[in-house]
Amino acid sequence: MSARILDGKALSETIQVEVARKVADFTARTGIVPGLSVVLVGENPASEVYVRGKRTATETAGMRGSLHRLPADVPESALLDLVDQLNADAAVHGILVQLPLPKQIDEQKVIERVNPLKDVDGFHPENAGLLAIGRPRFVPCTPLGVRAMLTSTGIATKGLRAVILGRSNIVGKPMALLLLQKGPGGDATVTIAHTGTRDVMSVAREADLLIAAMGQPELVRADWIKPGAIVIDVGIHRKANGKLCGDVLFNEAREVASWITPVPGGVGRMTIAMLLENTLLAATLAHP
Ligand code: GUN
Repeated sequence: MSARILDGKALSETIQVEVARKVADFTARTGIVPGLSVVLVGENPASEVYVRGKRTATETAGMRGSLHRLPADVPESALLDLVDQLNADAAVHGILVQLPLPKQIDEQKVIERVNPLKDVDGFHPENAGLLAIGRPRFVPCTPLGVRAMLTSTGIATKGLRAVILGRSNIVGKPMALLLLQKGPGGDATVTIAHTGTRDVMSVAREADLLIAAMGQPELVRADWIKPGAIVIDVGIHRKANGKLCGDVLFNEAREVASWITPVPGGVGRMTIAMLLENTLLAATLAHP
């Protein structure tokens, strides 16, 4: 069997066109252009690429994007001051502080400083809590993108055994909570495997839906995958030969899975489309 490809590029382009139309309606109704401010500390090359992609997409969708760059050695207090300034700016509806942050900065402190109504990353404890109790407001963009990809296959997640590899606050935990929600895109039976899991390969092999988000290049091999499973690869790594790869060894996995996401051109593209959706949601919350 050769798996069908879940094309994140095509799907994200469709979603971005829809968001642009909704933004135009919103602006026609309110006279307001949704604004997203991205904060980038230091010069991490991977972050630079993400941030450039975010900016272009924001502007294409008819929103206002602004980028705030701070040097790698910026004191924590200066970053917190910038967040305060963005919180107070009525033209800024969404705030995204690109992670990871340099080690002199307490990431959690910064996350908690962002106004939860502008928290388009969905990382603030208030938004994380709302998702946990089944009343999602801002949901982290990567899990939202994965759910949108699953919905696009037409395959119901209800009753599927989902295994998520990785327990991060950015992907693994919110992904599990989304799949646990009642209703379309949810109702799965969810397991999170992590570095403390015994025999992770056997756990993965039970999955009808396997989501790899543990940040280990090409760790998931064909023998980790139940024949016919849906495989979603959240990882992105640059190999020694310069090529990008995911957490899944694609050429092996595609022979076993029924659906699979490529890297690049899979989940990464969807993350940006969901950020646009969240920014429009933030503007709509500010101007109902
Ligand atoms: N770094 C990697 N992914 C993300 C993300 O979704 N949001 C932010 N803020 N930083 C990231």
